Amino acid sequence: MSSCNTQERGFALPEGDIELGKATYTRLACNACHSISGIEWQGENDGLRIQLGGEVSTQKSYGELVTSVINPSHKIAWIYKEDASTAEGLSKMKNYNEVMTVQELIDLVAFLQSEYKVTAPATDYHPYLY
Ligand code: HEC
Repeated sequence: MSSCNTQERGFALPEGDIELGKATYTRLACNACHSISGIEWQGENDGLRIQLGGEVSTQKSYGELVTSVINPSHKIAWIYKEDASTAEGLSKMKNYNEVMTVQELIDLVAFLQSEYKVTAPATDYHPYLY
C-alpha cells in the first residue's frame, strides 16, 4: 500500500460556474489537446485530440474529473494509453498545478461535468428472432 494518504472521503468542492469554467478551458488552452462540443479544437495536425464530454454510461464524478486535471497520471484510460502516455507511463497532459487557481479548477470541473450526458447502459435483452 502507498504510504501517502491523499485519497479522502468527504471531499467536497463548492459549486462552480459553468460559464466561467468554459472560459477557463479556452484560456488555459485545454483545446490544444482536447475536443469538446462547442469549442474548436486547436491542436496541431498530428497532435493529440482527446474527446471530453459526450455520452457515458456512468456519470464522471467530480472527484474523477479533479483527479484528471491535477493528477492526470493517476489513472490513464486504457483507450488512450498508447498515444497519451510517455514511455514511463506518465500522462502527456500538461501540468497546470502551478498556474491554475483553485477557483479556476472548481469552475472547470463544473463545466466538464455538464458536458457529460449519462445514457442508460445497454440492457442485455435478446429478442427472439425467427
Ligand atoms: C498537452 C496535451 C493536453 C492538454 C493541454 C490538456 N490535456 Fe487533458 N489529457 C491529455 C491526455 C494525453 C489525456 C489522457 C491521458 C490521461 O488521462 O491523462 C488527458 C485526459 C484528460 C481528462 C480525462 C479524460 C477521460 O476521459 O478520462 C480530462 C478531464 C482532461 N484531460 C481535462 C483537461 C483540461 C480541463 C485541460 C486544460 C486545463 C487539459 N485537459 C489540457 C492531454 C492534455
